[in-house]
Amino acid sequence: MTDRLVVLFFFFFSVATFADDTASSSSEKLTGIPPSANQYAQISTDGSVAIATVNTYASNIAMAVVAKGGNAIDAAVAATFALGVVDAQNSGIGGGCLILVRLANGKIYAIDGREMAPAAANRDMFLAQGKPNPELSRTGALAIGIPGSVMALYKLQQLGGALKFRDDVLPAADLADTGFRISNSMAERLAATSAKLATFPASAAIFLDENKKPLVAGTMLQQRDLAATYRRIARQGPGYFYKGDFSKKAAAWMRENGGLITLRDFSRYQIKLRDPIVSEFSGYTLYGFPPPSSGGTHVAQILNILDEFDLPNISPSNRYHLIADAMKFSFADRAHWLGDTDFTAVPKGLTDKRYAKLIAKKINLEKSQIDISHGNPDIDIQALMNKHTTHIAAADLAGNWVAITSTVNTSFGSKVVIPGTGVVMNNQMDDFSAQVGTANAFGLVGSEANSVQPRKRPLSSMSPTLVFKDGKPVMTLGAAGGPTIISQVVQTLLYTLHDGMTAQQAMMQPRIHQQWNPNVLFVEAAMPAAIQQSLKDKGHELKIWPRMGASQAIELRDGKLVPTAEPRVMKQNEK
Ligand code: DON
Repeated sequence: MTDRLVVLFFFFFSVATFADDTASSSSEKLTGIPPSANQYAQISTDGSVAIATVNTYASNIAMAVVAKGGNAIDAAVAATFALGVVDAQNSGIGGGCLILVRLANGKIYAIDGREMAPAAANRDMFLAQGKPNPELSRTGALAIGIPGSVMALYKLQQLGGALKFRDDVLPAADLADTGFRISNSMAERLAATSAKLATFPASAAIFLDENKKPLVAGTMLQQRDLAATYRRIARQGPGYFYKGDFSKKAAAWMRENGGLITLRDFSRYQIKLRDPIVSEFSGYTLYGFPPPSSGGTHVAQILNILDEFDLPNISPSNRYHLIADAMKFSFADRAHWLGDTDFTAVPKGLTDKRYAKLIAKKINLEKSQIDISHGNPDIDIQALMNKHTTHIAAADLAGNWVAITSTVNTSFGSKVVIPGTGVVMNNQMDDFSAQVGTANAFGLVGSEANSVQPRKRPLSSMSPTLVFKDGKPVMTLGAAGGPTIISQVVQTLLYTLHDGMTAQQAMMQPRIHQQWNPNVLFVEAAMPAAIQQSLKDKGHELKIWPRMGASQAIELRDGKLVPTAEPRVMKQNEK
């Protein structure tokens, strides 16, 4: 990276005003790790376990369970529960997650903990007088899908954790009880969502002050109800959430507030074990997440297209152009074909090298393809570029490699907290297509394949990914940021596996994102001006964005685990 780029990155990253996640005395007690600057990526003292998250408290808790004999799976589970406490705008047990794990015994699982539509859901539930009403799928009762995270994390823990499930949940319960200092990122999202949070009393009671103003960065936040919910889950397992008191409280709230989720919906929720998408790139084998995520499919498809070109001999601007058009073709396919495969057929050929060859032939290195799009609905660019999801990477030298992407969808999900539980509920129903061609919060359009149906799972872009070389795991990665998740993962894989960069170097490269609809190329401001100009000359309409995304990765390099947390988030939260 040139000095100029480094300076630019520093400029954009240094706009933050408060320190994030400064460890409080309570977390010192919890973890034994002294307070210091952001420690998102950590390795155990003996070097045998690594974790990368976007939050120091969560990574500290992961290392605390490792100190008690936990492995990478325990670390990942403990960190994910902790993130639900300290990073509730992004993820939590009221949401869903997708997990890819490679166990020390060599077995690989794709655990689908995606939310599910209630049995009473129907195709037109987000239309009012025949027109989509986005508020219905984004805020309040109807926006909520049946959460999957608790059951998925339990399954992961049972598959390969070295400790007991409760050992991985209780540290987060303690943290919810003793409290934490609100981070910059949470404060920013609270400020942006306070008006909606104010309309739900149980949410306002936690996240707003007595004047209904959002809590500010640095405020100590204790969540006693959430702590109690976590303790019951720790003791009783997922049964408490899906069949016990939690589900009863949630179903009662639904009845009183026009929601559709019933007790029976909770009790019938099931995680699914899926077959990962397996593909080859640059001599490596990639395992990606299959539908209901589009992530694995399109990461593989885009890399397959890039593989058709003589990348080392393509100029930097041509390469960005090529990546952009490969993304455009793939996102056009996403809009047409992708949906929950329990309900709709998704062609396997999308990840076939022969199909990539056909697309590659259509890509012109001199000019962007402009005529593959149909329609350009307005989108909320802010929602597209903000990150409200989180990715957790964990690995150990025993051979457990974990990738978890966990989300409540947009900031604080539906804005609903079920009274008496402290649990923020997702708004994942917005990831369905409310109507064919209608954009969701991320500007994504879809077809019938992603229409709302009872007990169907909405399409996701989450892309937890595992990378293997000669059958041995060498990297785990993933990202937050809606559809930019796919673009981030593609770029990190290209720069590491093909170009030989470290994950840290790869993440420092300026990112681009093109999702077919809207037909614009999002480019980080750090992109050199000459490349921006060249992309415009090739016909791309550029939208400059200060920074996009939040990726986490762990690599195995020279036999050592090397964790990397998103440099953009770290810099944003530094003093
Ligand atoms: O599953 C998905 O693709 C989205 N619900 C993820 C949302 C997300 O990453 C939010 N961050 N911008």
